[in-house]
Amino acid sequence: MHIFKNKTDLINHINDLKSKKKTLGFVPTMGALHQGHASLIIKGLNDNDVVAVSVFVNPTQFDNQEDLVKYPRTLDKDVELLKEISKDRIIVYAPSVEDVYGENVSSNSFSYDGLEHEMEGRFRDGHFDGVGTIVKRLFEIVKPDRAYFGEKDFQQLMIIKKLVDKYNIPVRVIGCKIHRATDGLAMSSRNTRLTPEHREAAPFIHKTLKTAKEKFGTKSANVVTKWVENQFASHNLLELEYFIVADVETLKTVKRKSNKKSYRAFIAVYADDIRLIDNIALN
Ligand code: PAF
Repeated sequence: MHIFKNKTDLINHINDLKSKKKTLGFVPTMGALHQGHASLIIKGLNDNDVVAVSVFVNPTQFDNQEDLVKYPRTLDKDVELLKEISKDRIIVYAPSVEDVYGENVSSNSFSYDGLEHEMEGRFRDGHFDGVGTIVKRLFEIVKPDRAYFGEKDFQQLMIIKKLVDKYNIPVRVIGCKIHRATDGLAMSSRNTRLTPEHREAAPFIHKTLKTAKEKFGTKSANVVTKWVENQFASHNLLELEYFIVADVETLKTVKRKSNKKSYRAFIAVYADDIRLIDNIALN
């Protein structure tokens, strides 16, 4: 398996693949790979000749320095998992911060037509500038035909589609279903940091989303939101940051339901100092 630490070697290798008319899929990650990432990579391998996987904990998208420091970094284990998927059709880009940013570790600022002001954008200052900066830079380096993102970060997926549109980046962005553990917890690299007690409590998030979806069939967004807030108010291990019912096009909080629109519920919860997000389609 080719593992590149610097972009010049990676670009040379990719140019070589392109000269042989190979199609290239791309799965950008921050490492600590799990079955959710594996499902994106497998989809990428089904659609393309080769899949590039980047493993890079991007400092500019963290608004919380402690979260950045504690973010799991497990490159050797990640490579083992990738080798189990394919030894010869995956290439890895695992750069240093310097290789990506040079001396200037900062983000550019982006407008995503308002999508950036909702939910994660409201609670994580500068997060989507950091995501836009790294994803645009990685697209310019890797030049993939298709790129794969999980719907767990649904807002991120929409923002990346917007970025690609606005900058005319020639890549097809493909959203993939949330991969869940058998108890319903959405797969996330941060799950590895949960204590056994918090891990056991965490499926409550998805369970609550599923009930919220049922209630949304007959009740208003406001009533459902209040109900979810009450569920967490009495929970002693999980703290609700937000629960929002949003229009899937604009990501704006729903005031009045219309049966012509599609809605999704979004949630962010703290399990001790670990922030977990999830979402569910409502109609
Ligand atoms: O979703 C992630 O893991 C990150 O936000 C991404 C897309 C790899 C950018 O750093």
